[in-house]
Amino acid sequence: MTKIGISILSSDLLNLEKEIKSIEQSNVDYIHIDVMDGHFVPNITFGPDIVAQIKRVTNIPLDVHLMINHPEKYIETFASVGADILTVHYEACDQLDEVLSLIRRHGCKPGLAIKPTTNIESIKKYLDKVSLVLQMTVEPGFGGQTFIEDTLENLQVLNQYRSNHHLNYMIEVDGGINNITGKICANAGTDVLAVGSYYINALNREKAIQELKK
Ligand code: DX5
Ligand code: ZN
Repeated sequence: MTKIGISILSSDLLNLEKEIKSIEQSNVDYIHIDVMDGHFVPNITFGPDIVAQIKRVTNIPLDVHLMINHPEKYIETFASVGADILTVHYEACDQLDEVLSLIRRHGCKPGLAIKPTTNIESIKKYLDKVSLVLQMTVEPGFGGQTFIEDTLENLQVLNQYRSNHHLNYMIEVDGGINNITGKICANAGTDVLAVGSYYINALNREKAIQELKK
């Protein structure tokens, strides 16, 4: 069954605890936290203090998506505040091997994210070192964008490569996921759907989750 992570990017930030409790009611697998630095992406969001506070009010595993340059400087901090999965961008790392092992050493599952147009060829040599590959299905930076269909090819390659090489990384998609695009991605071998505005803005969140799980 496909797992679901709810991105809090578009949630009511002045009532974040309430939002977390509402997400708990929906019985999802992860809370997806988008960390942006205003350099790697043209937007600024959450830092480690918010992650620490979220950790205090929930047991849902935290899937922390670092859209920042020099992620190596912050791995220890995000690990210490309770990240369960810690995902860095291929495009933001000079020494990716070291960053991935740093994440593991600090007790988190290492994830590797790529932008929509990044070729899988360039990340193949890291795929035996990660617990998760996050395929961005919009340009990173903002919630509420439209799913980019060309990314489906990467999902198929990731899925095929995983079975050919007997690897077990999870495949996650992030950006523009709703009941329709989520189904397409699940059929292409995706394990985790990161969902923001489709869930957060739904009039009936339970129904939105049921639609995603269908
Ligand atoms: C975009 C973020 C996504 C975003 C998804 O850079 O990584 O996690 O919150 O939001 P929706 O589902 O609205 O595209
Ligand atoms: Zn994200």
